[in-house]
Amino acid sequence: MTGDRRSAPAALRNRDPILDVLRGVLPRHGDVLDIASGTGEHAVHFARHLPELVFQPSDPDATARQTIAAWIADSGLSNILSPLALDAAAATWPVETADAILCINMIHIAPWAATEGLIGGAARILPAGAPLYLYGPFRRRGEPTAASNEAFDLSLRDRDPAWGLRELEDVTDLADRSGLTRERVVPMPANNLSVIFRRR
Ligand SMILES: C[S@@+](CC[C@H](N)C(=O)[O-])C[C@H]1O[C@@H](n2cnc3c(N)ncnc32)[C@H](O)[C@@H]1O
Repeated sequence: MTGDRRSAPAALRNRDPILDVLRGVLPRHGDVLDIASGTGEHAVHFARHLPELVFQPSDPDATARQTIAAWIADSGLSNILSPLALDAAAATWPVETADAILCINMIHIAPWAATEGLIGGAARILPAGAPLYLYGPFRRRGEPTAASNEAFDLSLRDRDPAWGLRELEDVTDLADRSGLTRERVVPMPANNLSVIFRRR
């Protein structure tokens, strides 16, 4: 931690593998909405390496928005905006349009309503062809779950019974019903997945 700038070890480990995937997913120009930005390290890292995009970080948590703002101030970057108070589960969002949406490590650390809100919001604000990028651990229907993810799932449910790993097929079905087609699933380090949807 440096002043208000909080640091998450996982974000430092996964930011470059995620950036590699994003290079093949995001448009060349435009506005990228980051949902559940947490410390803000991801959004600042991506903004630094993808200078032709403008990043809009967000988080419903005021402490998170403080650290995001501190990382932005420290970065000196001009292609990243002040963090918004955005609850994915809310019926309306404080942003009306985006050319891409990122949501990293949120849907298992929030009630299912947050996933429903995320998918609904993405369907509402993304134009046709625009990507929704999810990252995190998932269950796969009919496939064994890695022991490390089972243990993580238990620890999440201990903290809040409404939390826990989501089944990728449930998320995909919901997205499909909402007008988002699953385009690609990319295995990532430590049994995580990148999941790319596109607005039809
Ligand atoms: C594990 S952190 C992930 C932060 C960051 N994306 C990362 O990977 O380092 C989960 C974040 O989800 C946010 N969050 C929880 N519920 C949310 C919701 N309903 N809408 C948006 N963000 C939410 C929390 O405030 C927290 O910052």
